[in-house]
Amino acid sequence: MSRDLSRRGFLQVGAGLGAGALAAGALPGLARAATEGRRLAARHGAAGLPLVITSHSNETGQEAMRQAWAILAEGGSALDAVERGANVIEVDPDDTSVGYGGLPNERGVVQLDASIMDGRTYNAGAVAAIEGIKTPASVARLVMERTDHVMIVGRAATEFAKSFGFVEEDLMTPRSREIFLRWRERHSEDDDWGPPDHLRSAPAGGADEAIEQAGRLLEGEIEHHYGTTNVLAVDGDGNVAGVTTTSGLSWKIDGRVGDSPIIGAGLYVDNAVGAAGATGRGEDVIKSCASYYIVMRMRDGRSPQEACEDAIEMIVDRYRNVNPDFVPPEKFVAINKDGEYGCAWMGLRGLPKMSVRSPEGLSRFEGTARYQPG
Ligand code: GLY
Repeated sequence: MSRDLSRRGFLQVGAGLGAGALAAGALPGLARAATEGRRLAARHGAAGLPLVITSHSNETGQEAMRQAWAILAEGGSALDAVERGANVIEVDPDDTSVGYGGLPNERGVVQLDASIMDGRTYNAGAVAAIEGIKTPASVARLVMERTDHVMIVGRAATEFAKSFGFVEEDLMTPRSREIFLRWRERHSEDDDWGPPDHLRSAPAGGADEAIEQAGRLLEGEIEHHYGTTNVLAVDGDGNVAGVTTTSGLSWKIDGRVGDSPIIGAGLYVDNAVGAAGATGRGEDVIKSCASYYIVMRMRDGRSPQEACEDAIEMIVDRYRNVNPDFVPPEKFVAINKDGEYGCAWMGLRGLPKMSVRSPEGLSRFEGTARYQPG
């Protein structure tokens, strides 16, 4: 199986679609949407200041917003609020995409990426491929505030954190280890993980199911994701800050760094404009400098919602000539200094959601999807 096919398989599993559905036109509405660039009418969120949002719409994301809001409501800084919000999500053991409990790389080692940016001071910090520290967003903040560097990586990042009193811990939970071990045994027919073939129990469906399973394996239909979280805020003084933090692409090659710690890719903040963050396939986001692009679009007068959609279009345009069937799986969130917010993604599984806390209360916001199954 070529690397190309394998990667397409991952995408189609993530989208809940069978292999080849896009190319074969198995979902005519989807194919039409892809051709015509149809999407829902832009929705614009606006709620006043202060404001904090996260790309996480689950209960942990909502709790992150409660805790970040407690800081903002007392007159605290956007920087403190986004760090607190990110930490809440990072330490959630049930979240397999961020911090503690995040899925590991192909060696079974959890390597985390995080960045933070302060729009007030035009300062930024990041850590990449850091191991053994539950809250990399806080380490990124130390890089930003206590050094004259922007990024520290790998073992040195762990040592840097420990020098400030962080405790090195095993970041695998029973759940993430079980998922990893299952993946290691099933991800390839060409290695020696798992019991010998003749000792493996036959699928309940017999030979037919065994053949079906082999086909799914060949199509790359295995547990895999690149979840991440972004936390963006504007405080009562009008200062803007953001964090992006992740365990990155699961099963990634040892040492792989995604977009999350790269300023301009996974995160960008400008006090005069607003902030943007990305989740999804980091390689696409790095090559498109997507968060910087979104903030520059807002500087040119686009709303956060429109700017997120512009970034989706920009990436689609770049891939269109190379492979029209490829659907880059990115999601973007953005806020501006006036308290407007938005989010957009490529689609395939409904509308993108984010958690929002503003003077109007705590809510979940639905943005727009470029591709909608018809
Ligand atoms: N966006 C997370 C990653 O690709 O690592």
